[in-house]
Amino acid sequence: MKIGFGNDHAARGEIRAELMEHLKSRGHEVVDFGYAGEGAADYPVYARKVAHAVLSGEVECGILVCGTGIGMSIAANKVHGIRCAVCPDAYSAEKAREHNNANMIAIGARVVGPESLKVIMDSYLGATYNPKYDHRIAQIAEIEQAGE
Ligand code: RB5
Repeated sequence: MKIGFGNDHAARGEIRAELMEHLKSRGHEVVDFGYAGEGAADYPVYARKVAHAVLSGEVECGILVCGTGIGMSIAANKVHGIRCAVCPDAYSAEKAREHNNANMIAIGARVVGPESLKVIMDSYLGATYNPKYDHRIAQIAEIEQAGE
């Protein structure tokens, strides 16, 4: 798959490099939208970049890594058409795809260790959406369109 990757300072340096390398080693193409600097970074900036790449079709899905996954997922979900799930474990990641057709996931680098981060990413990327849940995804889109 072609994956958009985003991170803030909570996953800078070695972690982000290791995660992107892991994805590539699994045969994926990675487009890097993440923060590569030294100081603190504002997570909404990176979540937004990846979300726009997903919506435009530049990438097929997005993986975000910040401290908890929460801030980035909140930011990404403000973009219409994005379904971004916080996934602290592999089961959630699998179901995020199967049940929720999540087009992005967000993971906390301060919540789970580097090896678990990889397993969570693999679980999400290896899962398949089950169209029997189409009506619920449509209901989410209705809420979005209503602006409620
Ligand atoms: C940064 O300190 C932290 O707030 C951020 O990485 C993320 O966890 C926000 O939800």
